[in-house]
Amino acid sequence: MNRTTDGAAFWDRLAPRYSRMPIKDEAAYQHKLAVTQSHFRKDMAVLEFGCGTGSTALLHAPHVRSILATDLSEKMLEIAREKARHAGVTNVTFEKASFETLRAEDEGFDAVLGLSILHLLADLDGALHKVYRLLKPGGRFFSSTVCIGEMGVVTRLALPMATWLGLAPQVNELRAGEIAESLERTGFAIDYTWRPRPGSPVFIVARKPGADAPPGSL
Ligand SMILES: C[S@@+](CC[C@H](N)C(=O)[O-])C[C@H]1O[C@@H](n2cnc3c(N)ncnc32)[C@H](O)[C@@H]1O
Repeated sequence: MNRTTDGAAFWDRLAPRYSRMPIKDEAAYQHKLAVTQSHFRKDMAVLEFGCGTGSTALLHAPHVRSILATDLSEKMLEIAREKARHAGVTNVTFEKASFETLRAEDEGFDAVLGLSILHLLADLDGALHKVYRLLKPGGRFFSSTVCIGEMGVVTRLALPMATWLGLAPQVNELRAGEIAESLERTGFAIDYTWRPRPGSPVFIVARKPGADAPPGSL
């Protein structure tokens, strides 16, 4: 099974339903938005990969200069572009690309966002190296990741079956500690780790060391 091509078909099928799904934990979502925006400046260039139907990018748009928001699913992006048109947002560019094949300038971004996506990537270390390369020195990587490796045995046994039936994407059984270790191996410093409850997705703000660190207010 090819995770990228089969993944695109899965997410294309899910896109209309995904766009109507309510946010599971609104308070946690608002907290992550606020923490992220506390690091933003109006002159910043931001990359979001795996942007889905674009809601988060559109909320961040007024706080930065530009956002390149990418996803491998064209159907997700169609919905995202329609939302941007409706909201009158003009500084977000939606582009179809898997993160693995995305071509972008090294050190071209002040911040990178990867939300509900790290557990879907076949090569976590490779992806984090790419994020590191794309960030300017001092830039930050904001991630929020469901940690399937910490879930109960029933969920973990059911997931491969759901994937086989086409009801779930291929996922990695990540634990929060593995993400932190991979970030640190890559060279990131971890500024902030937060979970509203044990078992909730882990939100991590990681910094690429360097002199040009944007001001943060954590
Ligand atoms: C769980 S959704 C998360 C969407 C959005 N970030 C959010 O938080 O609502 C995962 C998204 O990642 C996209 N995706 C999956 N694998 C990807 C990859 N390798 N490269 C880029 N996007 C990917 C899917 O198409 C989907 O839109």
